[in-house]
Amino acid sequence: TPALHVVEWSDVAQWWPRLGATSEKYTRGVVGVATGSATYPGAAMLSVGGALAGPTGLVRYAGGARDDVVREHPSVIVTGRVADAGRVQAWVCGSGLGTDERATTELRTVLAAPVPAVLDADALTLLVDGSLADQLRRRDAPIVVTPHDREFTRLCGETPGADRVAATLRLAAWMNAVVLLKGDRTVIGTPDGRAYVNPTGTPALATGGTGDVLAGLLGSLLAAGLPAERAAASAAYLHGLAGREAARSGPVTAPDVAAALRPVLARLP
Ligand code: APR
Ligand code: MG
Repeated sequence: TPALHVVEWSDVAQWWPRLGATSEKYTRGVVGVATGSATYPGAAMLSVGGALAGPTGLVRYAGGARDDVVREHPSVIVTGRVADAGRVQAWVCGSGLGTDERATTELRTVLAAPVPAVLDADALTLLVDGSLADQLRRRDAPIVVTPHDREFTRLCGETPGADRVAATLRLAAWMNAVVLLKGDRTVIGTPDGRAYVNPTGTPALATGGTGDVLAGLLGSLLAAGLPAERAAASAAYLHGLAGREAARSGPVTAPDVAAALRPVLARLP
């Protein structure tokens, strides 16, 4: 088994991007969010919520849920398509996007952008198409894919099995991407064989939509300039703490996790 680093608070605190006196929204990072649809507006609102909770300067939303997004989050700039979104420093693409031709075009446009990207949910389903997977592997800018076990199985053709670290590293090498394999102990692996495990998970997170919040937060860390593996490890760690924080006041829903990121992040030095 390769060296495995258990993520700690001190890692996250050290990696976290700090505001300087001269920070402005473009240096803090502009996140593009291509999630949700008219059918699944909730996925868009949750991933945008995760992105806004992070160190983001600006969130641009591109997709079919723009009316809902802007009503809930007036600071977000919205448009219908990825190609019309303007410049962003990282993309979050996938949940609630659907798997039709329009969704495929949106994913292709994200993959063609020379900036880091998080691919989740429906974007992972679309990657089963070999030509999209090839486009991903040829890409220079970092990618983080965030499968749960069923998404992993669809991508790989086999279940993660008992050795989740080895499974994560296999997929990372094959896709030439950082892989964040979700679970009670989320594993993060890099194409060159480094692995991290997150100790902060809680079963309180086992509720629909928390993965969307994670993807948004991760996108904001990528847009802020964190290397992909640090962004992924930090996002998993803080997301777990937010789940615990939210659980203190009762049963947890995904919007509670997005809201609980705020007090958790306030504890960063
Ligand atoms: N312990 C710790 N963390 C957990 C646990 C657990 N027992 N169970 C789940 N989690 C965490 C995962 O690590 C991940 O961060 O909760 C999050 C769940 O994310 P997803 O699996 O992506 O779930 P999500 O997309 O939010 O909602 C479920 O997935 O397959 C789709 O359509 C399905 O609507 C459903 C959706
Ligand atoms: Mg999910």
